[in-house]
Amino acid sequence: MNILGISSFYHDSAAALIVDGQIIAAAQEERFSRKKHDHRFPHQAIEYCLSEVQLTPYQLDHVVFYDKPFVKFERLLETYLAYAPYGFRSFLQAIPLWIKEKLWIPDIIQKELDYAGSILFSDHHDSHAASAFFPSPFSSAAIMTIDGVGE
Ligand SMILES: [Fe+2]
Repeated sequence: MNILGISSFYHDSAAALIVDGQIIAAAQEERFSRKKHDHRFPHQAIEYCLSEVQLTPYQLDHVVFYDKPFVKFERLLETYLAYAPYGFRSFLQAIPLWIKEKLWIPDIIQKELDYAGSILFSDHHDSHAASAFFPSPFSSAAIMTIDGVGE
């Protein structure tokens, strides 16, 4: 089973390739673009990951995005509403970006990867926990995620 993980459109875009449960490759886009904290779609990181085992996007079983955009958007709107009128300037900056880009993640992935297969979404903080647990030597662990954003 070939799974490509993608993080993008916030900061430090990255990709990871898992083949039959093993991490084959993982990289941040900034390593290729030379742009610190590059947030753009990680084309070069994906290309690197797939090239490690000569896969094409057509051979992927799933593409997994690191959070759930609609759940995060709902949380964002609830927060803006709860604190209004504070945060109105931030609201004016954030909402157009969400409408233009972040709510269209499946379409962007399909277009950028030329991929028509399964796209899955994991919880933001589960993604953090998984990135710590699965490369660790432990068979079980308690994980606490402390983060500034998420769903
Ligand atoms: Fe986070």
